[in-house]
Amino acid sequence: MTFRISVGPWETLQPDAQAIRQEVFVIEQQVPPEIELDDMDAVCVHAVAYDAGNAAIATGRLLPDGHIGRMAVRKAGRGQGIGSAVLKALMAAARERGDSEVVLNAQTHAEPFYVAHGFVREGEQFMDAGIPHIHMRAALK
Ligand code: COA
Repeated sequence: MTFRISVGPWETLQPDAQAIRQEVFVIEQQVPPEIELDDMDAVCVHAVAYDAGNAAIATGRLLPDGHIGRMAVRKAGRGQGIGSAVLKALMAAARERGDSEVVLNAQTHAEPFYVAHGFVREGEQFMDAGIPHIHMRAALK
């Protein structure tokens, strides 16, 4: 699938990012909407992937403190490298602003996805929004 990645503020990417997160986290994974939307979006760097027809298909965000989160690819777009491209774009944004590492709380099932991008697991599994998670960290070279 051909796609492009847009990196920018909530101000411009909110409608697309929010629609994907609603579909993946709230509808598919049944995360309560009041947990899904928090007050950090306004201060995050966001990435959104668009397909050849300009439909938004994936998103993720980078917090000011180096946390990456809200990684979501629409079901039909999974397993084609789009999530990887979003993650790489957010890691590049962190590197460009001078961060030396990024961290995230991964849904445990996605550990191999993050390991493939240099993340290392830290500590025990924990529950968040009813879903098992692990903490992971990656150095930025
Ligand atoms: N989901 C998807 N891929 C997974 C995976 C998982 N649970 N666990 C491991 N992988 C691996 C695949 O095996 C594949 O490896 P390969 O290239 O060696 O075959 C690679 O990760 C897939 O890479 P990519 O195609 O870039 O991933 P993606 O576009 O499907 O994005 C997610 C990955 C997890 C972001 C996406 O599947 C998603 O949105 N899932 C639902 C929401 C979610 O769980 N988000 C994670 C929050 S931590």
